[in-house]
Amino acid sequence: MAKYDYLIVGSGLFGAVFAHEMAKRGKTCLVLEKRSAVGGNIRCEERDGIHVHVYGAHIFHTNNKEVWRYVNQFADFNQYENAPVANFRGELYNLPFNMNTFHAMWGVTTPAEAAGKIAEQRAEVKGEPKNLEEQAISLVGRDIYEKLIQGYTEKQWGRRCTELPAFIIRRLPVRYTYDNNYFNALYQGIPIGGYNKIIKGLLEGIEVRTGVDYNASRAEYEGVARKTVYTGTLDEYYAYKLGRLEYRGLRFETERLEQENYQGVAVMNYTAAEVPYTRIIEHKHFEFGTQPVTYVTREYPQEWKPGEEAYYPVNDARNQKLYGKYAELAAKEDDLILGGRLAMYKYYDMDQVIETALSAVKGELAES
Ligand code: FDA
Repeated sequence: MAKYDYLIVGSGLFGAVFAHEMAKRGKTCLVLEKRSAVGGNIRCEERDGIHVHVYGAHIFHTNNKEVWRYVNQFADFNQYENAPVANFRGELYNLPFNMNTFHAMWGVTTPAEAAGKIAEQRAEVKGEPKNLEEQAISLVGRDIYEKLIQGYTEKQWGRRCTELPAFIIRRLPVRYTYDNNYFNALYQGIPIGGYNKIIKGLLEGIEVRTGVDYNASRAEYEGVARKTVYTGTLDEYYAYKLGRLEYRGLRFETERLEQENYQGVAVMNYTAAEVPYTRIIEHKHFEFGTQPVTYVTREYPQEWKPGEEAYYPVNDARNQKLYGKYAELAAKEDDLILGGRLAMYKYYDMDQVIETALSAVKGELAES
């Protein structure tokens, strides 16, 4: 007889929500986490009273009322609205592209003038765009492309925009209003007390073992649970037997500064190619902090090498095909449930991870 109902590999949002919901229903769960601390990529570190987002800036936003109510069980949320600023060689522009951006770029003051300017610049691309550069120009024109898209995108992908496929940018939201609120979401904010509070609430009373890499200690956990919920990388689960999936990496450099306010905004994107980082995050502004010091993090996209933290899946044809083959293997295992950004090889926002975890729970309950 298995000791637990569920062995849950990974204590990120997916694993933690699944464990919480099952434990609430009297199921026994054991959570394994290979890092020394729980929470996956939403984990924060508290320094001088400031919650530092150690795995990149995390802003909660959703249109799903059920998910919003769900997270609010564990923490109240503040009124933070993401309104990033782009810095191109010292020129500042509001994002997402809106009337403030167009006014700063061209001096236009009405939506009709802005739309006219964009239409004039878009006309440069004739026919079907052949690469990302042409695609971007065909959507928003050359000025916005060169100042706000080109350098940033090339740093993100490590390749020239002329060498990147057009489909990466399907659409670029353009607003003809003076609205800097980045996410078009009904609900948005940062948990008061930090994201760790949510993870703590989710994992309350659940047995968790940190510092345990499931793939390196499979034999020890064989048969320990009726089912395994796996949220790590799928190629690793199968010991890379069909080949390796690729990711895009990130490097973060965090600095404590002896000043109250460094950049006046939580997120400043650096859009020129010669600046090696893509953004500077000033963490205290997520929480309207008033501490006498501040923490800033520079975010550098980088090539990913096996063994490093996998940040973004590279969902091109080769990787999708390989992932499909691993997913076929997984589908044959009746006692295996996959979930979360790594096992699904998908970029998910936090609300989508919660949504999918709740639906995995529903699926399980319907079965049992
Ligand atoms: P997550 O990676 O968090 O958790 C998986 C856990 O499993 C990890 O703790 C890992 O250590 C563990 N694990 C893996 N393999 C294991 C093994 N073999 N044994 C034991 N443990 C193992 N979303 C959003 O809504 N708003 C935002 O602003 C952002 N910002 C953002 C910035 C950056 C830079 C990134 C990369 C992502 C975001 N996100 C985001 C997305 C967000 O981070 C994401 O949706 C969730 O954190 C994913 O939760 P998961 O549980 O799927 O994975």
